[in-house]
Amino acid sequence: LKEQALEKLTQQSSLHQLNEWKATYLGKKGELTAALRGMKDLSAEERPIVGALVNEVRESLESAFDGQEAELKRAEREKRLREETIDVTLPGRSIPLGSEHPLTRLIREVEEIFLGLGFQVAEGPEVETDYNNFEALNVPRNHPARDMQDTFYITEDMLLRTHTSPVQGRVLRANVEAAKQRGETSPQPVRIIAPGRVYRRDDDDATHSHAFMQIEGLVVDRHIRMSDLKGILTTFAQQMFGHDVAIRMRPSYFPFTEPSTEVDATCYSCGGDGCRVCKQTGWIEILGAGMVHPNVLEMAGYDPEEFTGFAFGMGVERIAMRRYGIEDIRHFYTNDVRLMSQFKSRV
Ligand code: PHE
Repeated sequence: LKEQALEKLTQQSSLHQLNEWKATYLGKKGELTAALRGMKDLSAEERPIVGALVNEVRESLESAFDGQEAELKRAEREKRLREETIDVTLPGRSIPLGSEHPLTRLIREVEEIFLGLGFQVAEGPEVETDYNNFEALNVPRNHPARDMQDTFYITEDMLLRTHTSPVQGRVLRANVEAAKQRGETSPQPVRIIAPGRVYRRDDDDATHSHAFMQIEGLVVDRHIRMSDLKGILTTFAQQMFGHDVAIRMRPSYFPFTEPSTEVDATCYSCGGDGCRVCKQTGWIEILGAGMVHPNVLEMAGYDPEEFTGFAFGMGVERIAMRRYGIEDIRHFYTNDVRLMSQFKSRV
């Protein structure tokens, strides 16, 4: 029996077969167990002899089994290692990285500049009340901007905001409310910018879009003067466009500022052959601004005798077009990855 078993053992070439062998010879129903059971038929003298013999056979079969099992396991492991080797010198598969939208990126840059000047970032909804978009901004009922031509109305009193200026009234009123809650007589001063999307009923072309981005700015405090406006905007233009940039202010009109101004920045580009103006005049309009109209302050609950302020609003696309040399505003909204991928962040 022992010899037969040992011979069979060497023929078992897989772990599975090996376990079957174990069941056949050493298992509960195996041949060796049968031999042990048969011992009850033996005489008292025979029993210890046969018992010792059976034990000896079992021990040698078991140790042979252990040896064979270790050998097979080793062989199997080696086979696996051979088959599963990884060639670490193969080039990896590249995962395409997305990029920040140029408008998002520009808004962030503007935010960084103004945060550095002590401003906070505020926001308002794109769906606004007629009151916030017009009324609270001193825009009279008969003003042409209220025309169906220019504004997307949702209902008679709800519309898609045509500019970010309604955030002015929201922030001012919230401050007045907060001061009341705290039992203070005067509201806190304001220094915010408010980026966001605005809507106008325009036909889309290279320079017009029915939806575009603006960044509003509002400063309200005691003794704010127009020179403060000019100082802040000069600093902004220089940080945004370059330290040699100058601004100029042309008189203009907005119902919510008095006086009102349109602000231009010098515009030239320098190349290998020197510098030249990028537009015939050498100036490019960057934003509208002015001193906050006393009516706007008053309607929000700020005393115009105590407080003065300035506000400005810039079109983000216009600045991005200048900054990145993009010639058609529609490029910002067609989401062509060939354009977008040129704005990979360098972080
Ligand atoms: N809201 C104006 C516009 O959309 C811009 C502006 C903002 C002008 C704040 C003055 C003060 O054109």
